Amino acid sequence: MAVRYYTRSGNTEKLARAAAEAVGVQARTIEEPLEERTELLILGASYYAFDLDPAVKTFLKENAPKIGTIVCVGTSAMMKSMYKPLKRVADKLGICVSREEYHCPGSFFKVHPGKPDAQDLENVAQLACSVVAKLEQEK
Ligand SMILES: Cc1cc2nc3c(=O)[nH]c(=O)nc-3n(C[C@H](O)[C@H](O)[C@H](O)COP(=O)(O)O)c2cc1C
Repeated sequence: MAVRYYTRSGNTEKLARAAAEAVGVQARTIEEPLEERTELLILGASYYAFDLDPAVKTFLKENAPKIGTIVCVGTSAMMKSMYKPLKRVADKLGICVSREEYHCPGSFFKVHPGKPDAQDLENVAQLACSVVAKLEQEK
């Protein structure tokens, strides 16, 4: 299991760090390729111009053979989910995307100040624990 994230202003990083801490791994940026195959990748990715950032797409392309299923944790100013843009990319690469994700508003100029907040960090930590527990059960 691994956690990677891309962030511009720190919102996604907060979620990724909380998720990683909850399941006892390090949250690393997408600049660090996956070292080995991982059945579960918790991916911190948010909306920029109605899509994933191109750097996230490149990371997925370069690491695709090492990724089983992605659970996304992300933020945005207006959107509710990263599932669709992520699935579009992942399908082409043979990567599964879980319907389970954590998505919340992220502060953007004067919109959503303080988000993600302490409750979001607690929620994302719970989600991470729950998906890891399910993975363990499937073994
Ligand atoms: C260049 C740019 C483009 C953005 N485009 C969108 C968008 O299309 N839809 C949206 O809901 N939020 C958009 N946002 C808001 C970000 O998704 C939001 O601020 C998010 O929390 C940023 O995460 P980060 O701090 O990890 O970079 C955009 C932000 C930036 C800086």
